[in-house]
Amino acid sequence: MKSYDAQYIRLPQLSSLTLGGGPLCSRHRSVAKGCALLLGFLCFSWLIYASRVYLFSQQRESNSVISGCEGCSTSVSISISSSSSPDGVAENTKTTTQRDELEMQTLGNRKSAGADASAEKTYAVLQRLVNGAESTRRTGTPHQKLLFNDRHDLDLDLDEGSDDSAEKSEEQKQEKSQVKQFFFFNPRPGARDWADFDDCDEDRICAMTSSVEDADVVLFNAARMKHVESLPKRRSNQIWVMYSREPPDLPSMDALDRPDLQNQVNYSRMVYSDSTWPVLYGVLEQMASPPEKDYENIFQGKRYDVAWFVSHCDRPSKRMEYVRRMMSTIDVHIYGECGNWTCGDRGYTMGGQKDECLEKLSQEYKFYLSFENTLCRDYVSEKFFNIFEGVDVIPVVRGGADYRKLFPSDILVDANDFPSPESLGTYLHFLGQDETAYIKMLRNKNGYKKGRYKTNFFCDLCERAHTGEPRHVYKDFYKWVRAPGNCWKPKDLDPL
Ligand SMILES: *[C@@H]1O[C@H](CO)[C@@H](O)[C@H](O)[C@H]1NC(C)=O
Ligand SMILES: *[C@@H]1O[C@H](CO)[C@@H](O)[C@H](O)[C@H]1NC(C)=O
Repeated sequence: MKSYDAQYIRLPQLSSLTLGGGPLCSRHRSVAKGCALLLGFLCFSWLIYASRVYLFSQQRESNSVISGCEGCSTSVSISISSSSSPDGVAENTKTTTQRDELEMQTLGNRKSAGADASAEKTYAVLQRLVNGAESTRRTGTPHQKLLFNDRHDLDLDLDEGSDDSAEKSEEQKQEKSQVKQFFFFNPRPGARDWADFDDCDEDRICAMTSSVEDADVVLFNAARMKHVESLPKRRSNQIWVMYSREPPDLPSMDALDRPDLQNQVNYSRMVYSDSTWPVLYGVLEQMASPPEKDYENIFQGKRYDVAWFVSHCDRPSKRMEYVRRMMSTIDVHIYGECGNWTCGDRGYTMGGQKDECLEKLSQEYKFYLSFENTLCRDYVSEKFFNIFEGVDVIPVVRGGADYRKLFPSDILVDANDFPSPESLGTYLHFLGQDETAYIKMLRNKNGYKKGRYKTNFFCDLCERAHTGEPRHVYKDFYKWVRAPGNCWKPKDLDPL
């Protein structure tokens, strides 16, 4: 039995099987009969089951079954798996019995007539791929595998010189080139290693593959390169992409400094704004009608000045040292690993008592320290955006980003505007006493909410895989990541 790790791909919406089957059948008279039969089965299954149904037909040799169809409007699925004979006869002998199942699936709902047309096309391409695979499978040559859909894959035998027909193999190769294949080379264990092509251009088909050699796009986790001893052998026209959400001065990115990466990385998805696709942890959206609140009452309820939730104390930004010095001019309550305050029953930890802590923050504190652990240009983490979800507190920021450029200036206090931690503390102390000024700023801040940053990353990449444009390569990716001035040591901690 041959089995493969499941990977994932979503195809453009395939909303009607009839649409998919029609042209397929007309284009391939040889399978027309089978199609008719198939469609019959599908309608039958549609009538009987509300959810997915497997229709299963079995022959001794190779056969295919199209199965599943939720109301024929949402889902059709294809997978092929091959198995050797039950008695365990070696695969390379001619006695091998193969049983193939064919299942094709696309998820999602009908969106437009355009989606139908594209679904039809996708289906036709896949079907031809499968037919091609069927015809060459018997030669016993090794398979390549395209991975389509949730836990279903598509085995392909794309070897040339199959004795069936060279013509067919040529056609098949052409069809295959219509599907651009993605491969995650070194994903973080447990992290998602498939790309979502749900909302992509319907004329561009992309899928995950299990084979790095055949991939059109290889994605590397920039923070995990130290685990990579040798880079994959690069196929011509393969696109290499480096990605990471981490701040680029992370020590693990030292491993990007290797000669074999020079002139290899085409695109990047990193926190820098000049990355091909910058990583943003959030965006602020101005609300059309901010919630009306009794701000005087809110102000009266605030018993304390400053809170800070933190779990890692010793960081490149030296924020702990900074806060300790601030504490000479203003009270700061430190929650979490690095302080003595707790909220909820386990203190503040990510995924712990977050709601309870934010509630307390909202009611009892005037300011919240959104201090980054590292000072790198453009890097603003979720620590900042999280309090734009209905928390009545003014953010005090300290980081490497240009907050003034990125956000309205009357909704936050930027430590960068102060020569020392002590002077920041003094300012906060006075602002916290000035009810009018404080309420004005809080009201402004509450006019914004955290919005989801929608990225087109996978679709853009899919598009580029198809067009090969625009061409780009980082001469020295490491140098770009660690260029002087990208990250820096704190400059606001000089002794007074
Ligand atoms: C926590 O309490 C201990 C003992 O009272 C004190 O020495 C320490 O400085 C406190 N830590 C912070 C971060 O306030
Ligand atoms: C990607 O980089 C390779 C190696 O430098 C190069 O040959 C290729 O043209 C680049 N592709 C794109 C799309 O930029």
